[in-house]
Amino acid sequence: MSSWNFFFCFQALLDLQDKTEEIPCVVGGEDVWTEDVRYQVSALLNKAINASLGVRKEWDLKPVQDRAQIFFKAADLLSGPRRSEILAKTMIGQGKTVIQAEIDAAAELIDFFRFNAKYALELQHQQPISTSVSTNTMSYRGLEGFIAAVSPFNFTAIGGNLAGAPALMGNVVLWKPSDTAVLSSYAVYQVLREAGLPPNVIQFVPADGPVFGDTVTSSPHLCGINFTGSVPTFRRLWKQVAQNLDVYRTFPRLAGECGGKNFHFVHGSADAESAVNGVIRSAFEYSGQKCSACSRLYVPDSLWPQIKGRLLEEHGKITAGNPAEDFSSFLSAVIDEKSFRRIKSWIDHVMMSPDLSILAGGKCDDSVGYFVEPTIIETKNPKEKIMTEVKVLKGKNVIKEATDILRNAAGNFYVNDKSTGAVVAQQPFGGSRASGTNDKPGGPHYILRWTSPQVIKETHVPLNEWKYPYML
Ligand SMILES: *[C@@H]1O[C@H](CO)[C@@H](O)[C@H](O)[C@H]1NC(C)=O
Ligand SMILES: *[C@@H]1O[C@H](CO)[C@@H](O)[C@H](O)[C@H]1NC(C)=O
Ligand SMILES: *[C@@H]1O[C@H](CO)[C@@H](O)[C@H](O)[C@H]1NC(C)=O
Repeated sequence: MSSWNFFFCFQALLDLQDKTEEIPCVVGGEDVWTEDVRYQVSALLNKAINASLGVRKEWDLKPVQDRAQIFFKAADLLSGPRRSEILAKTMIGQGKTVIQAEIDAAAELIDFFRFNAKYALELQHQQPISTSVSTNTMSYRGLEGFIAAVSPFNFTAIGGNLAGAPALMGNVVLWKPSDTAVLSSYAVYQVLREAGLPPNVIQFVPADGPVFGDTVTSSPHLCGINFTGSVPTFRRLWKQVAQNLDVYRTFPRLAGECGGKNFHFVHGSADAESAVNGVIRSAFEYSGQKCSACSRLYVPDSLWPQIKGRLLEEHGKITAGNPAEDFSSFLSAVIDEKSFRRIKSWIDHVMMSPDLSILAGGKCDDSVGYFVEPTIIETKNPKEKIMTEVKVLKGKNVIKEATDILRNAAGNFYVNDKSTGAVVAQQPFGGSRASGTNDKPGGPHYILRWTSPQVIKETHVPLNEWKYPYML
């Protein structure tokens, strides 16, 4: 990030300091304040569903070039005039340091908008074969109905992409942002509107999760859910969809990204220094609140004394603080009290378990914010509740062997690198098993999930006879 951006971001932070922004739901083209609707969220959501269906046909018929332009424009706004605002809101609202905000709310979101728009335009060239007797075309329509997008607190970019990608493909979307990322999500929504997105194509509906889930899954018009969040919530939504299957006009598409339990596997031939730096960044940046964060580290005995020594030394230099005030902080408090309690209960478990010992960190302090010290735990028991199964690699050709062993275990794996930091269009991201439906946002295949292609055959020769020649 250039020092120029840095300066503007700093100014935007000062402007936001000590302010509380009031944020509405945006339904039917109007701002609705939750105080008015607290007791009727479900009615409000039904109104939003109705409003989205009202604009669906017109939006879907709009040429893809025009829809793509809106996203190119939104990316330009984010990379220029709105950049510092979105960074400052991500820092203050979600507790990110300036670099974590930059790679998320600027770099990744801008890339998502530009690359998805480029992929959507390229997709139009994928057409079936035509012959002298028929001309065949494939038309990439939006899905029939509305899409429910449920986004997490961790990444401003995911929220924008979750709601943005289906809209680009001609869909209408109800976007429920996370309770703890409303500030930046609303700013992204405003950028999309400013870039020319018509009212009701995306409606912004912060709402209680279960009420949102119950309402959208019981509408006959639900045609897709794009979800990023926990495994239990995604399973709940999937079951609700299954139970309501007879009600729907179409089979809803379900896409989910549910996080993982990533590991760094250090081979005996590794560069120890690079491995240690990769672990510190991956495990502790943004307080480990990334689905890609390194939560397990496997080190061969031969390297462990060296790696352990260097890890502890670097761990001692990690600083925590308010990232919007103290730019020397590497990490900040965790997102909310619920998260703090959950982590604390894991640390209590570690203290009780004879198989686990804390090498560094372990203190939790909620007196000025939900601070958890970066914690390194050692175990010799790979079956301990805090770990799960992993196989040991042997032999010389490590990359080949890892590729074979991890064929079904990992959706993304990186060699000589840390587990975080996937880049749009370079490492499309996602995992299967309980990690999700592995649809690889950030790559060209992703948008296929949000289109319902129609094939049109135009025949040029008349059929003059119903009998086949052998019958004549
Ligand atoms: C949906 O909107 C139409 C008008 O477009 C209206 O007739 C209908 O009553 C609305 N339904 C609901 C559930 O609000
Ligand atoms: C679905 O969620 C992923 C993130 O998990 C996001 O990148 C993508 O744009 C979303 N897609 C839709 C159609 O909402
Ligand atoms: C968000 O953070 C939670 C808690 O750290 C984590 O379990 C989840 O995987 C993260 N999600 C994403 C998309 O990074």
